[in-house]
Amino acid sequence: MKIRVLFLGDLIGAPGAAVFQKHIAKLRSEYSLDAVLVNGENSAHDGKGITPKVMKFFKHHGVNMVTSGNHIWQKKDIYPYLTEHKDLLRPINFPSSCPGSGVGMFSIGDQIVGVVNVQGRVFMREFVSCPLRALESALTFLKTRTKIIIVDMHAEATSEKVCLALHFDGQISAYVGTHTHVQTADERILPKGTAYITDLGMCGALNSSIGIKPQAVIHNMLTQMPSKFEVETEGPMVLSGVVVEIDSQTGHALSIERIRVIDDSVRFDGEGMEHF
Ligand SMILES: [Fe+2]
Ligand SMILES: [Fe+2]
Repeated sequence: MKIRVLFLGDLIGAPGAAVFQKHIAKLRSEYSLDAVLVNGENSAHDGKGITPKVMKFFKHHGVNMVTSGNHIWQKKDIYPYLTEHKDLLRPINFPSSCPGSGVGMFSIGDQIVGVVNVQGRVFMREFVSCPLRALESALTFLKTRTKIIIVDMHAEATSEKVCLALHFDGQISAYVGTHTHVQTADERILPKGTAYITDLGMCGALNSSIGIKPQAVIHNMLTQMPSKFEVETEGPMVLSGVVVEIDSQTGHALSIERIRVIDDSVRFDGEGMEHF
């Protein structure tokens, strides 16, 4: 059986939600998708963290699993959600005392899909534990349940992302990078069968500083003084990710296709942003 999965990169605030909402049904039918995954670490209205309301939005649109990253802790009302639900992951290599889990599973018919969210350490502030060892232990567990395993490696450094992928090549169906919000054009199937991309990119305003209004960032660069970062709401919007086709018998990837939809017709006036 072939399984087709869409994985979208960091969705930024309500503009990201708007472009997602507009295109998800079309993508679902165009690619005969069996599952949809999204990195939601920036999906709250201000691009910082995620809220239970956003999770409700994702569930409404049939998202099977939401991953995250370093911004996961920025909205405190998501902490109980992380403890009580299994459809939102935080990086596995945060201390075990943190709420939530970095490993999850969902079903497509009688097929189980395992998902791991792990964070890199190179050029990242957090002192998370070794991503390689954390991923190794997650895979040891998941392999007792399924051959279909998807990993979101949330990291800054391309070298750290590709090295971890090559180390685990063949043990993972699809290994995608997130966090930089800039899509890379290096999607491929690694020699032993893992679909790979260094970064999925983002869903949000195209002409922005990785989803944020550039003026505030430029002010900060020019003056070295703090400035208030706000989500860019002016179009055009971009929706970025990959579609991976997986052989459920072997767990290996059959194909990986980069998705980059640029839409100049998504208008977002900021109204209702508080709902995200
Ligand atoms: Fe992000
Ligand atoms: Fe991040």
